[in-house]
Amino acid sequence: PLVLHVLGARPNFVKAAPVVRGLAELGVRQGIVHTGQHYDALMSDVFFADLGLPEPIANLGVGSGSHARQTAALLTGLEEVALEHRPTLVVVYGDVNSTLAAILVCAKLHIPTAHVEAGLRSFDREMPEEVNRIVTDALSDILFATSPDALSHLSNEGVDPARVHLVGNPMIDSLFSALDRLDPAPVRARLELPERYGVATLHRPANVDDPASAKELVDAVLEVSERLPIVVPIHPRGRERLAEAGLVTGGNLLIVDPLGYVDFLSLVRGAALVVTDSGGVQEETTMLGVPCLTVRPNTERPITITHGTNRLVTPAQLAAAADRALAEGAVTPSGDLPPLWDGKAGPRIARVIEAWLRGGNLSPAG
Ligand code: UD1
Ligand code: UDP
Repeated sequence: PLVLHVLGARPNFVKAAPVVRGLAELGVRQGIVHTGQHYDALMSDVFFADLGLPEPIANLGVGSGSHARQTAALLTGLEEVALEHRPTLVVVYGDVNSTLAAILVCAKLHIPTAHVEAGLRSFDREMPEEVNRIVTDALSDILFATSPDALSHLSNEGVDPARVHLVGNPMIDSLFSALDRLDPAPVRARLELPERYGVATLHRPANVDDPASAKELVDAVLEVSERLPIVVPIHPRGRERLAEAGLVTGGNLLIVDPLGYVDFLSLVRGAALVVTDSGGVQEETTMLGVPCLTVRPNTERPITITHGTNRLVTPAQLAAAADRALAEGAVTPSGDLPPLWDGKAGPRIARVIEAWLRGGNLSPAG
């Protein structure tokens, strides 16, 4: 048997590393296919190094484009790879366009698939990721859920519960593996940051693509930066638009290139406050006990609010919410973290996959 992992974007690498390691420990033959959706060294290579991921067996180099163009390139490239390698199982991660394309290709070629991080729903179909999640879960043969709410979403959509496994969160496995390397001091020194600072990351299309939304958001972040220095490792999406809206280095605001995984989480670990619209960062701040203000109208990760340090805010609410969060500090009650976010999701996923491979169940379900 051969297991192929299809990875394309920054959060995919973080989620896959523990699964790849878990399967390696069980001696399963596997390989990584990098679609090239993210290609800058700081969006890709640095994650392979920081997470100890093996070299991909192929890089499709699809690059950027509109949804249709990028997805079309992904479909064509992934079909060729699938036909060449004829994998026994393809594992996909999260909700990016590479995930969607891999699931479609495999469904048409009758190649069984597993989806890691199944069942998350924002119930907001204007998010491209929500469309990707729905299609991916509808077509996956094995579904790995990171939180209990995912189970009810999947059952409401008619997914056979026998195909769903609640395994915890591999993104948190990666965080735990990196924990003893997470030291804010050197990164702080390099960026000349004082001891008390905040971190912001912004890249959701709904926030950064439209100039009016970008301006509203930037004004709100500038207001927060009157309270404490804010460092913004800027995602390439929105870099220009946010700069046009006034998100530039000066005063209490520091705009830097995207940071590598260990550098970024080191900075988050030492931060008094995080402002974000990222999915993964909501989860990581919950585990690190850092207050997180998510500038979005909804989240597919409500467990980070009920069991973590996360709050949803509008740009208009951001400064007041920052004042409150800074006064209160982190609010995670110890012992009440999300269930199974214990650093062992990768081995759990690997055991399910290995059992499935041994069972010789090679036909897709459904
Ligand atoms: C993608 C995912 C999003 C995820 C994010 C993680 C989709 C639909 N979206 O968004 O869910 O949260 O990754 O970071 O799959 N660019 C570069 N260098 C790169 C990659 C991208 O400069 O290495 C720029 C290009 O201008 C590109 C833009 O960023 O057009 C957007 O990249 P793309 O992969 O299409 O989507 P993201 O916004 O990164
Ligand atoms: N991240 C990073 N450097 C950065 C910003 C984010 O290493 O400058 C990491 C972050 O810790 C998390 C992942 O990238 O593990 C999240 O990716 P992103 O926010 O791009 O995507 P999303 O989770 O929103 O899909």
